[in-house]
Amino acid sequence: MDSQPNSPEARDKKFHMHAYTNARRHQEVGPLIIEKGDGIYVEDISGKRYIEAMAGLWSVGVGFSEQRLVDAATKQMAKLPYYHSFTHKGHSPLIDLAEKLVTMAPVPMSKAFFTNSGSEANDTAMKMIWFRSNALGQPQRKKIISRKRAYHGVTIASASLTGLPNNHLSFDLPIANVLHTSSPHHWREALPGETEQQFSTRLADDLEKLILAEGPETIAAMFGEPVMGAGGVVVPPAGYWEKIQAVLRKYDILLVADEVICGFGRTGNMFGSETYAMQPDIMVMSKQISSSYLPISALMINDKVFEPIADESNRIGTFGHGFTAGGHPVAAAVALENLKIIEERNLVANAREVGAHMQKRLAKIASHDLVGEVRGVALIGAMELVTDKATKAPWGSVGALGGLVNGILQQNGIISRNMGDALAFCPPLIINDKQVDDIFDAVEKSLDEAAKQVKA
Ligand SMILES: Cc1ncc(COP(=O)(O)O)c(C=O)c1O
Repeated sequence: MDSQPNSPEARDKKFHMHAYTNARRHQEVGPLIIEKGDGIYVEDISGKRYIEAMAGLWSVGVGFSEQRLVDAATKQMAKLPYYHSFTHKGHSPLIDLAEKLVTMAPVPMSKAFFTNSGSEANDTAMKMIWFRSNALGQPQRKKIISRKRAYHGVTIASASLTGLPNNHLSFDLPIANVLHTSSPHHWREALPGETEQQFSTRLADDLEKLILAEGPETIAAMFGEPVMGAGGVVVPPAGYWEKIQAVLRKYDILLVADEVICGFGRTGNMFGSETYAMQPDIMVMSKQISSSYLPISALMINDKVFEPIADESNRIGTFGHGFTAGGHPVAAAVALENLKIIEERNLVANAREVGAHMQKRLAKIASHDLVGEVRGVALIGAMELVTDKATKAPWGSVGALGGLVNGILQQNGIISRNMGDALAFCPPLIINDKQVDDIFDAVEKSLDEAAKQVKA
């Protein structure tokens, strides 16, 4: 098909530069073109069906063919296709969504602010935090702590918060004032014999040492995903968030929970902050807020954040920040309907129940020769591949085995995503036990095929 100059594949190679893709290699391998979707399935241009075991990009919670979201968009498009929230203006979908989010929050929140992507929302959080420090007469309090392996986005500030080499290399990032503390991956980072609790204590000590070395009066906030996603699905070790939060409280440092993946049911509670007893001052949400049918993201801020910002905006004359399409009425209407569906269909409970089955199936493959570790909670999980379980050594270079198994899985009709040698599973929240079995039967078969190729 590719040899036809006007085929979609050929035109893609000719005209389209892909996100998160080796641009040179793409010229050889070309695209997988997805044409349509229904439920947990998508279909490519040749008619081959796949289970979308990543829900797109961790995001299509209600599945790919939810007519209610189409109807909500159409209705709002016909009524008011665009408006904004600058200079005291507003519109009903945005007011309704702000009220909905603030009333859903697991800890007291004061206001919601709207943006278009997870990256923009994290950038906005960082700017709000700086603005607040200035408002409080603490201009020196500007440093932000993130973590190695964190993922917070790709704009200049959010990519700086991200703690992954591919988001920094050759981009001249991170920017100043962003610090990265230890990653909470027990299997990779713990000392021999160290329990999860001991490991968490050591990480909290690392954090405190970093704060003291930099000067506590210079640290404004720490960002964290309740469960790390794009860093390879890293579930916090026992006691982790409790110990980290005790350090933050000691030095009056704000906590930002990046709920972009965990929010709206993924971890078996409405928010990851509930699953791990986090008490954030700012919550950042996107993806499953609208099941990614349309781009929208939001921040919730508590009074500790809002009140000084309100004073400073009054002093200056405005809060000089906002996006043309931030809180777009059609996206907001879709998000409202999406949250209604999540509640009406008990998709959070489904994530917990079917998630328990998924974790069982994951646990079962831990004994496979190529699997070093499996990890996860509810409907998010990963298997990390190795060729030597004792040394945890990769097969050649990091990512080679992950890429191989990911390719075989795709041939076998399952779309996953390998982050290095960790393959993630994050299916739509509507999935059932039988469909989870379909995924993991294919995973077992694909691992066996990969093992044969590795031996050869
Ligand atoms: C936890 C987290 N934060 C932020 C982002 C960035 O979101 P976006 O790609 O919408 O900018 C992502 C995207 O995967 C994410 O997983």
